[in-house]
Amino acid sequence: MIFDISGSAKFVEADEIQAARHEAINAMQSLVDDYERGENWLGWLSIAADIRPTIDKIEKSASLLRNDCEAVVMCGIGGSYLGARAVIEALKPQFGAAEPEILYVGNSLAQDYIIEMSNHLKGKRFGIVCISKSGTTLETAVAFRVFRTQMEQELGKEYAAKHIICITDLEKGALHDIAQMNGYEMFEVPNNIGGRYSVLSAVGLLPIAVAGYDIRQLIAGAFDFYRPHRGVEACGEIIDYVALRNILYRKGKKIELFVDFDPRLRFFGEWWKQLFGESEGKDGKGLFPASVSYTTDLHSLGQYVQQGERHLFETIISVERGKYEMEVPRTKDDLDKLNRYSWYTIGYINSMAEKGVRMAHVDGGVPNIRIAIPQINEYHLGQLIYFFELACAVSGKMLGVNPFDQPGVEAYKANIKKLL
Ligand code: PA5
Repeated sequence: MIFDISGSAKFVEADEIQAARHEAINAMQSLVDDYERGENWLGWLSIAADIRPTIDKIEKSASLLRNDCEAVVMCGIGGSYLGARAVIEALKPQFGAAEPEILYVGNSLAQDYIIEMSNHLKGKRFGIVCISKSGTTLETAVAFRVFRTQMEQELGKEYAAKHIICITDLEKGALHDIAQMNGYEMFEVPNNIGGRYSVLSAVGLLPIAVAGYDIRQLIAGAFDFYRPHRGVEACGEIIDYVALRNILYRKGKKIELFVDFDPRLRFFGEWWKQLFGESEGKDGKGLFPASVSYTTDLHSLGQYVQQGERHLFETIISVERGKYEMEVPRTKDDLDKLNRYSWYTIGYINSMAEKGVRMAHVDGGVPNIRIAIPQINEYHLGQLIYFFELACAVSGKMLGVNPFDQPGVEAYKANIKKLL
């Protein structure tokens, strides 16, 4: 992974960076001290090591669903859904149905979506993975009830007992009780890991394995950034990222745009927004995390980014090479004048677009931080996941908020309950 902050150089002074690095190092040290004291919510820090004994079991259960089902319904919301989807969407073939087909539900209350999915599943052998730490989240609970009922009616209770897996608290909660009562297989959401930090536990690993991807490589990538125990000096890139985004925030850059140049990373941006938004947006503070996919969004939001209010900076994920290569084809008539580019691959043109965009946006007053990975695969996604989780927790500490709670989410839930 290459971490490049040159796109922010003209927006911050060297002594500001130095001071912010000190603050970030102290925040990281205090996180490590909390972990060593056994404080709650920090289980994700060592998950890349701690999950290893459970991998065989996860893979075994995943292959049962893979081999037996035409479709698997992943039921969950927020941190119980976005991490798995981010990885699966980044790795899956872009065209043609994958086998088994992976469907997501329980992440909204959109009635027509649920009904269309239910119709789509009629006559199919399908599986369900229901993920909810609390076991009581309304969106997930409604969807789980709909699809569990459909499965029992169409395929039988015995089939359901074998093809429903629940990932939840192993001691309490409605989902735990349903699973226990019906004999569904259960995996744990570790009680010292909150939803948005849980992708490297069974919460993310089981769905990713069901979709057919290599969770051992994902964990290996994450383990590469499991460095806090080696001392904060080993975490240079993370410290730099945290320091820089916090200085930019203090200088009025209130919005951090997660930028990709490959639509396969779109859901990674969704996961990243949830991680940072829920962790930092509290007590009247926090960068607003947003995401764009270029070059597509240069033709919509690009105008704003170049010349609108100057409250933005960009965190760009750059992918150095694709799976395939294609050159621009030559034509005899060359009416579109593209023959001059015909010895370039489309990937090279995309990389020049990225360079041109970075230069233009810096000139327009938008700093950037560039994180480059060699290619999109399980290992590098695992690295990115752990990098951002650690950066987010350290950044929250530096901002002076609790990066592990989300009290603000309760307000809308209470209103729904009252209104119903
Ligand atoms: O990150 C979080 O803690 C939240 O986004 C939760 O993951 C989300 O609200 C779902 O909660 P639960 O897993 O309890 O259904």
